[in-house]
Amino acid sequence: MNSYRIKNRDDYDRHYRRGREDAKNFWAEIAENFEWMERWEKTQSGSLTNVDVKWFEGAKLNITVNCLDRHLKTRGEKTALIHEPSDPNGAVARYTYRELHHSVCKAAHMLQAIGVQKGDRVCLSMGMVPELLITMLACARIGAIHSVALAGLESKSLADRISDAGCTVLVTGDGAFQGDKIIPLKDIADEALKNCPSVKKVIVHRRGNCHVSMEEGRDLWWHEIFDGMPQEFDPRGMEAEDPLFILYTSGSTGRPKGILHTCAGYMVWTAYTFDNIFQMQRDDIYWCAIDIGWITGHSYMVYGPLLNGASLVMYEGALEYPDRGRLWEVVDKYRVTHLYGAPAIVRAVMAHGAEATKKYDLRTLKVMGSVRNPIAQKAWLWYCENVDKEKCRILDTWWQTETGAAMLVSFTSITEQQHTFEGRPLPGVYPVLLDERGKTVTGNNVSGNFCIERAWPGMARSIYGDHRRFEQTYFKPYPGHYFTGDNYYRNELGLFKIKGRADDIINVAGNRLGTIELENIINQSEWVVESAVVGFPHEDKGQGIYVYIVAKGVEEEEKLVDQIKATLEEQIGIFARPDKVQLVSALPKTRSGKITHRILRAIAEGNPGSLGDMSALLNPNVVEEIRKAVISS
Ligand code: WTA
Repeated sequence: MNSYRIKNRDDYDRHYRRGREDAKNFWAEIAENFEWMERWEKTQSGSLTNVDVKWFEGAKLNITVNCLDRHLKTRGEKTALIHEPSDPNGAVARYTYRELHHSVCKAAHMLQAIGVQKGDRVCLSMGMVPELLITMLACARIGAIHSVALAGLESKSLADRISDAGCTVLVTGDGAFQGDKIIPLKDIADEALKNCPSVKKVIVHRRGNCHVSMEEGRDLWWHEIFDGMPQEFDPRGMEAEDPLFILYTSGSTGRPKGILHTCAGYMVWTAYTFDNIFQMQRDDIYWCAIDIGWITGHSYMVYGPLLNGASLVMYEGALEYPDRGRLWEVVDKYRVTHLYGAPAIVRAVMAHGAEATKKYDLRTLKVMGSVRNPIAQKAWLWYCENVDKEKCRILDTWWQTETGAAMLVSFTSITEQQHTFEGRPLPGVYPVLLDERGKTVTGNNVSGNFCIERAWPGMARSIYGDHRRFEQTYFKPYPGHYFTGDNYYRNELGLFKIKGRADDIINVAGNRLGTIELENIINQSEWVVESAVVGFPHEDKGQGIYVYIVAKGVEEEEKLVDQIKATLEEQIGIFARPDKVQLVSALPKTRSGKITHRILRAIAEGNPGSLGDMSALLNPNVVEEIRKAVISS
């Protein structure tokens, strides 16, 4: 066990205090747990005010040494990675730490052989195959900067990302499985590359057995180079603040932001948080059911688990393929102890009924971690009742692409948790709630804009190629603070609960309502599977409330609509009575299960022209369906 694991409540309080009062020694002691090629001179320098934060300056390291090499002596034969294919009858791939180490070294040689060097940007557009994880680590081993694009982005979005980062190499596949479909990755790449002169070489990993065209001199098959490569590769010594990766996230202007993370701070932060959140034992099995193309996949599928020497499951396909029981089948098959995903997982199964969970043995599950959306009370309680009666260890975690790893956690055993609260800050995270004018909101049972007042090791350092935008977006609103963009509520126990994005607040005749707060109330109805609330311009009230609902088993839709309106009015006030409630068959979502309020807002505003890029959606068809229903109503 690592020396930095928090054992109980007293420990938590002590660590939390020390992280603030004696930050230098606190983080130095944590950093001692890693392998460094050269030790740091300064634990932390720079400031949030100047937006020039640095951690472990002067140190040299390679994160892959910490993910792989240092485990070889003690757990070389331990399973590092189990790959469950999309096809339930397909071949499962397994890697021990030693085998993974060999594969990463071979891939590093492969990249080097085609000219990749330290600092080069490499774009990865692959399905959920082991080679994606291996290529990420191979880049890190060389010191190249990986930029993972979600499989299935349309070619223009892929081209934008490649050009913004000036990538010189693209690693892709012939196709990626998604349910019963195959995403034609190489065709999409070919189209994108017409506008990306920076890319000199393309490596294509064969997986879907799709027919692809290969461009002479540019395109190479993975297996033709990889197979003959040596199994050892000297890791490149990286400066602490050298970039590790870029990950694009959507920005309010529609132009994606390339969030930049650096080597040392990100390593220490992801490892520290992963260990403390999941508190895994040596033989536990961890599964992160979220695509690697999101930050969750980067930090808690690749780096966090491997830095801690855990055994992880990676699943290739769609979670409901070939049926809704697949999630639980995989848990059963590998005796998963720790499952991490979006709350949509719980809701989706709930919509289907408890049957799916009864068919499988879920007794190994100790922890069900959740991220990206609030867990509605109903789903939380349903899970306790149907999945894990005795232990009921739901673990909510709040964080962002920009924070590198989790910040708020509803610890299961260390401190108290409360349904629907994301929890408390981890040691090292010092949040404050600020009002519109930047004044600190003190006391209990209060809300405000959620900011962080101290630098933490895993924070993003910049937006690639646009440091000014980084400053403007996150540090200008409240000088000296990092502004998360979220609006939060804090109760008398010091637990935090999200109310919505600061820009998701609906202001109805001066009453500020958090959309998430409203959704939670709506979701209590036994007929509601899930809901989304957005604001739209209203002549009299400033903003009106628009509710989208996915319902099940309702006979009289009108009755449900009336009931929802009445409930909100009763529970919050007359101003919370929605102006419009629309029943829909599904809500538009990203592939990680996040409801895209942006799109629903554009429809509610009668502004479908500004729907923007929909290529990262799981179900783009539903948008058209909702829009048509609005027009005809
Ligand atoms: C939201 C995901 C409620 C929040 C790791 C945040 C959450 C945004 C939670 C970041 C949670 C994340 N409960 N909302 N547990 N976790 N969010 O960058 O609005 O993809 O700002 O990072 O998701 O999304 P991102």
